Amino acid sequence: MIHHNQAAAAFLAVPDDSEYLCLVADLLDHPAVREMARYPQHGTTTCLEHCISVSYLSYLFCTKHGLNARCAARAGLLHDLFLYDWHTYRPRKGERLHGFEHPRKALANAEQYFSLCPVERDCILRHMFPLTLTPPRYKEGFVLMWMDKYCSLMETFRRPVMARYALQERRLERHFALAEAARQPLAEPEKRHG
Ligand SMILES: [Fe+2]
Ligand SMILES: [Fe+2]
Repeated sequence: MIHHNQAAAAFLAVPDDSEYLCLVADLLDHPAVREMARYPQHGTTTCLEHCISVSYLSYLFCTKHGLNARCAARAGLLHDLFLYDWHTYRPRKGERLHGFEHPRKALANAEQYFSLCPVERDCILRHMFPLTLTPPRYKEGFVLMWMDKYCSLMETFRRPVMARYALQERRLERHFALAEAARQPLAEPEKRHG
């Protein structure tokens, strides 16, 4: 986990960051979100710890880069709200494997308990891109998607998620810079004289 602040949220390991907590306090207090603490996600990390890490790192990046940090923080916390242990879950008839199905389940659960904006909905639904073929529609969705992959890797190898955060941040900045450059119209060719 990132930091521990037991005073801010009893029984939960959450970032010691009051501005972040203001944005997600209602979610952290909800029984459905807390239920994620019952399910393992990667290694010894629970689903709730994973979602808090993805939420907080997405929030940090979006805050620094002028994106919608509130949407990123809230969607990050809800992106894996599928509410079962995926290691032992058996797909029902007609269901595909967990990796493909769980974004839709997480979104259905999130919509049952919370009111979501279009950005939050898209972030949750598209976070498994490119496994699921449709990419996120918003920049916040790309941030969440990459932070999810980064946190999953760190958790699988039992490393603190902040250990290589600066590197991940620079990667994502380069990714956005390249995407922006690709959108620029080509420069006018220089006129030849003589
Ligand atoms: Fe997921
Ligand atoms: Fe995830």
